[in-house]
Amino acid sequence: MGDRSEKSENRIFWEEQERLLDELVNEAVMPGGEGAVERLAAQGKQPVRELIGKLTDPRTQFYELSRIAGFGMNYPGVKDVPGGGIVTGIGKIHGSWTMIIANDSRVKAGTYFPITLKKHLRAQAIAEQCGLNCVYIADSGGAYLPMQADVFPDDGHFGSMFYNMARMSAQGLKQITLGTGGNTAGGAYIVFMACEAVMIDGMSYSFLGGPPLVRAATGEAITAEDLGGAKVHTQISGGADHLCGSQDEGIEKVREILSMETPQVLKVPRFPEEPPAEPAETIYELFPSSIYRGIQIRPFLRAISDAGHFIEYKESYAVGRGDNIVAGKMRIKGLTVGVIASNMLGIIFTEAAKKATEWIVRCSNEKIPLLFVQSSPGYMVGSEAEHGGIGKYGADMVRAVSCARVPKIQLVTGPDNGAANYGMSGRAYRPHFLFSTMRGHTSVMSGKSAGEVLLALEDKKRADSGKPMSDEERRAFREKMIEKYDSEAHPFFCGARLLNDRVLKFREIRDWLAMAFEVSLLKPVSESDFGNFRF
Ligand code: COA
Repeated sequence: MGDRSEKSENRIFWEEQERLLDELVNEAVMPGGEGAVERLAAQGKQPVRELIGKLTDPRTQFYELSRIAGFGMNYPGVKDVPGGGIVTGIGKIHGSWTMIIANDSRVKAGTYFPITLKKHLRAQAIAEQCGLNCVYIADSGGAYLPMQADVFPDDGHFGSMFYNMARMSAQGLKQITLGTGGNTAGGAYIVFMACEAVMIDGMSYSFLGGPPLVRAATGEAITAEDLGGAKVHTQISGGADHLCGSQDEGIEKVREILSMETPQVLKVPRFPEEPPAEPAETIYELFPSSIYRGIQIRPFLRAISDAGHFIEYKESYAVGRGDNIVAGKMRIKGLTVGVIASNMLGIIFTEAAKKATEWIVRCSNEKIPLLFVQSSPGYMVGSEAEHGGIGKYGADMVRAVSCARVPKIQLVTGPDNGAANYGMSGRAYRPHFLFSTMRGHTSVMSGKSAGEVLLALEDKKRADSGKPMSDEERRAFREKMIEKYDSEAHPFFCGARLLNDRVLKFREIRDWLAMAFEVSLLKPVSESDFGNFRF
């Protein structure tokens, strides 16, 4: 009771939403419960996150990506794939940020469903874009065979994992594999394509065809150990490079290999870090529980920036229209960042689009990375907006976002609909990282708008067929559409499908942005060329 009176309704609401997020994450962390951990222990194996904890530097955080991937996918024979069946994330090894990609063999033997593949490839894409070495902890039964047509043959399917390994190693990004289980058929290439591969005696196997296939194809009867065990590949075939006796030894060997790497250096100056002026808890008070209510974004920006400093660009320009986007600069843990943030209801008017475009170009010219805080249901509609050029000014903003070659990060804190998704650097605009919050709702339009559009179409169809809809049918149709759109825009639905890299809690935002900008600035920032604006 006391708690309730001290906390605002907003804070109570968002903390409850984040508790639901925790529940889902707990399911991803413990697939199969304690029984699965015991089965692993009987094979001399540890849960994959424990291995990652030993691989990364002591007392450093592992930034795990896409933890709620795979829930509610309803694949043939499988409703959920907890965590997507694979753990990905960024951690420090000998002081250098490294991408870690690790199969969770507790989820259908670590096999690859479409979402597993998407998560693996997304982690590799981040590594390549940011210039990170990769460590693979490989324990997979390969393609999830009932869905081979959806994971094997196409670009963006299984072969792309190895294509990426080859190209990254050619760029000087180390690809190190620790085999901790059976890696069969296509999956064997994760061992053989590595710059250096570590195998564990009696635990790791790699073969292009397992014993049953060999027997069927050639009649040869052979054990997995003799066909492609750790000794075979480190002593006979030469397909792997280091033989270890346990998972712990294997982890130590990977750390030893990476200890010879050149330390990473930030490519931009870092200023002394200052704590924000407000505690992270204040963020919970700032966001109304309804995503259709306006927000005041400036206090939020002050709550995540060093010393609460946010220097605004064109603060007094076209107030009421231009300030539906707030632009400016701030520092996050000493790194200077340009900001484009939705404000109030977030509807983008021409003045706001023009201001945002200018600011994206200016930050790109200064080689300052950009943070997009997205809470916009779209660009302004109607004849006044159309005649005033909202289409061309919106297009200019989209062009600026597309061509800006500074690192971009999107954080979704509210509605994320229509072309505002493009102008505010949604997934298609290749932000280095894309985070959501429990308030983020991503869909082509809101449930309410979709309900009206689809109802108008249905209404006409039914009237044309001589069976007009009754008021009751209209109401039911509208409600059904609202429910469908709102559930598909929900952070759980979007997070399950990897439409973001992680659903962040409000109190995690500053730490995650600091990590993400730092990692994004390990490569030199390129010059931007914007092509033809309309203005
Ligand atoms: N496709 C679909 N399901 C698979 C699978 C695959 N490639 N590999 C394993 N599974 C399933 C199993 O049927 C089992 O399902 P269940 O829990 O519903 O019974 C679950 O994953 C666990 O597999 P299991 O064999 O019990 O695990 P294990 O630890 O004893 O052995 C492997 C792991 C990988 C050595 C073994 O599963 C295997 O050899 N799989 C086939 C590998 C293969 O030939 N892949 C070729 C694909 S390119």
